[in-house]
Amino acid sequence: MAENLRIAVLASGEGTNLGAIIKAQDEGILGNARVSLVISDNPEAKALVRARESGITTAVIEKNSSITPEEFDGLLIDELGKASVDLVVLAGFMRVLGKKMVNAFSGRIINIHPALLPCFKGVSGVSDAFDYGVKVTGVTVHFVDEGVDTGPIILQGHVDVEQADTKLSLEQKIHALEHQLYPRAIRLFVDGKLKIEGRKVLILE
Ligand code: GRF
Repeated sequence: MAENLRIAVLASGEGTNLGAIIKAQDEGILGNARVSLVISDNPEAKALVRARESGITTAVIEKNSSITPEEFDGLLIDELGKASVDLVVLAGFMRVLGKKMVNAFSGRIINIHPALLPCFKGVSGVSDAFDYGVKVTGVTVHFVDEGVDTGPIILQGHVDVEQADTKLSLEQKIHALEHQLYPRAIRLFVDGKLKIEGRKVLILE
C-alpha cells in the first residue's frame, strides 16, 4: 500500500461519519492514511463545513439537470485524479456512481449502509428496518459495485432494537456504531488486509 495513502470522502449531508473519520485520523487510528479531499454534490452540506474546519480541501460538483450522470462521473474522476486519491469513501453520498466511476476506482470505493445488507437497501435503511419490526439491525461497510448497496461486504455490526426504541433513538444507536465501524474498515484497507474473492471479502492476518 502506498505511503500516506490519500482518501477522498464523498458526502451530501451532515457528515457525522466524515467527522468520525477525521477524529480517527487525528488519533492515529487510520495509520498513514490522510483525508486529502472532501467532495459534495450539495454546496450546503454540513460535511463541507466540517472538512474546511479541519483544513481539508473541498470540491463541489453540483447535481443539476444540465449534466448527465456520465458527465458527473467524468468530473468526479477528474477531481479524484487531480488529488491522486487512492481510496474513495462514500459517507452519506446521495448519488449512485456509474460504471465509468466504479471501473476507474475498481476495488477502491467503499460505502457505509445503515442496515444489515442485503436487507433494507436504499436511502431509508434505518426507518425501513424499524417499520418492519426487526429485533436486530445494524451497519454494513462494503465495496461499491455498479448496483445499489450490493457490493462485497467488508464489516458488519449489529444493534438490538429494544421495545422502547423510537426511530430517532435507533438512528442514534446506528450512527454511534457507524462511527466505530467505518474507521476500522478504512484501517483494514489502508493496511492492505482486504482481499475481494467473488462476493466475499477476506480479511488477511
Ligand atoms: C449514514 O447513516 C450512512 O450509513 C448513510 O448515510 C448516513 C450519512 O450520515 N449512507 P452522515 O452524513 O455521515 O451523518
